[in-house]
Amino acid sequence: MKVPLLDLRAQFETIKDDVLPALMEVVEAQRFIMGDQVRELEQRVAAVSNARFGIACASGTDALLLSLMTLNLQAGDEVVTTPFTFFATAGAIHNAGGTPVFVDIDPATFNFDLEQVAAAITPRTRAIVPVHIFGQMVDMEGVMALAAQHGLVVIEDAAQAIGARRKIDGTWRLAGELGTTGAFSFFPSKNLGGWGDGGMIVTQDEALAERLRKLRTHGGAKQYHHDEIGINSRLDTIQAAVLLRKLVRLEKWSAARRERAGHYTAAFGDVDDVTSPVTDPANEHIYHQYTIRVPRRDELKQHLLDRGIGCAVYYPKALHLQPCFAALGYGEGAFPESERACREVLSLPVYPELSREQQDVVVETIGEFYR
Ligand SMILES: Cc1ncc(COP(=O)(O)O)c(C=O)c1O
Repeated sequence: MKVPLLDLRAQFETIKDDVLPALMEVVEAQRFIMGDQVRELEQRVAAVSNARFGIACASGTDALLLSLMTLNLQAGDEVVTTPFTFFATAGAIHNAGGTPVFVDIDPATFNFDLEQVAAAITPRTRAIVPVHIFGQMVDMEGVMALAAQHGLVVIEDAAQAIGARRKIDGTWRLAGELGTTGAFSFFPSKNLGGWGDGGMIVTQDEALAERLRKLRTHGGAKQYHHDEIGINSRLDTIQAAVLLRKLVRLEKWSAARRERAGHYTAAFGDVDDVTSPVTDPANEHIYHQYTIRVPRRDELKQHLLDRGIGCAVYYPKALHLQPCFAALGYGEGAFPESERACREVLSLPVYPELSREQQDVVVETIGEFYR
């Protein structure tokens, strides 16, 4: 039995009767840029992150870049983040004019270690970018306290975490709710994925929302009038129409992912070599990825691929070791937990359409490898 890492065609079968007519409405109206659906999506995504404003843009990368552009970073300004993330997190910091400063991760959650964040703050630090990696939130109460203490901006990289939440002082707080801004990605493989690229910034700050709206259209609120230099980063109406129809299913899909994750974790209790992912008890995980740690990871990966089971390594190389960041001066061994994670992690199929039968094949094939 083949088990793909993600089966978007299976998802399409369940939503096409709903999404295709919505798509045709856009085609009929011929309003492809910033149509009404974009504004509606902005409101809906703001609502699912308990934020007041949503600003749609062309990608998750741009959601980070635009957020960082509001800081007017000067050469030498530092932004603290994790090296165990997708490249965009640090690439956006550089492209906004800042210097990424990396800190190591907590081996249990894969999220950055708050004590190391505190230790990395210098007089040049302007912002912190917590990344809610794989769909589990960072300790945001800790991040916000640190930011308040040092007068820093917090830009949540929530690209993998739409709808993830964390109980803080007895209240559920959502990914994107507490930071100065939160950045979401609608890349097709995301929990809420479009049919192409897309992204969204959320914020509680009205003035900031207004500035972000300008920055995404070349820095002008009025056509042909430019207050500052922005970029072109809009969300297509077609994407908004698709995303609106998918958003109503997101909670159910995230619950299905959690159920599948729970089944794996129970099943891997019998396989000594497999370390299941750990959820901080304060968090509700949305399992964008279900990521195990294993010895002989590359051999296991090949064993699974040879048997038609999809799996992937997120991420094989930490960002501080990427050639493009060599000038930052970090070497091998600078962040041992991030580097160890890069050697040990393997992400398994965890999508809502994954059947129990398929999941049992994944578990059995991994068990067989280690027996
Ligand atoms: C953690 C993280 N940050 C940023 C991004 C960038 O998002 P996009 O691919 O939509 O530009 C992604 C997704 O690819 C991501 O996983």
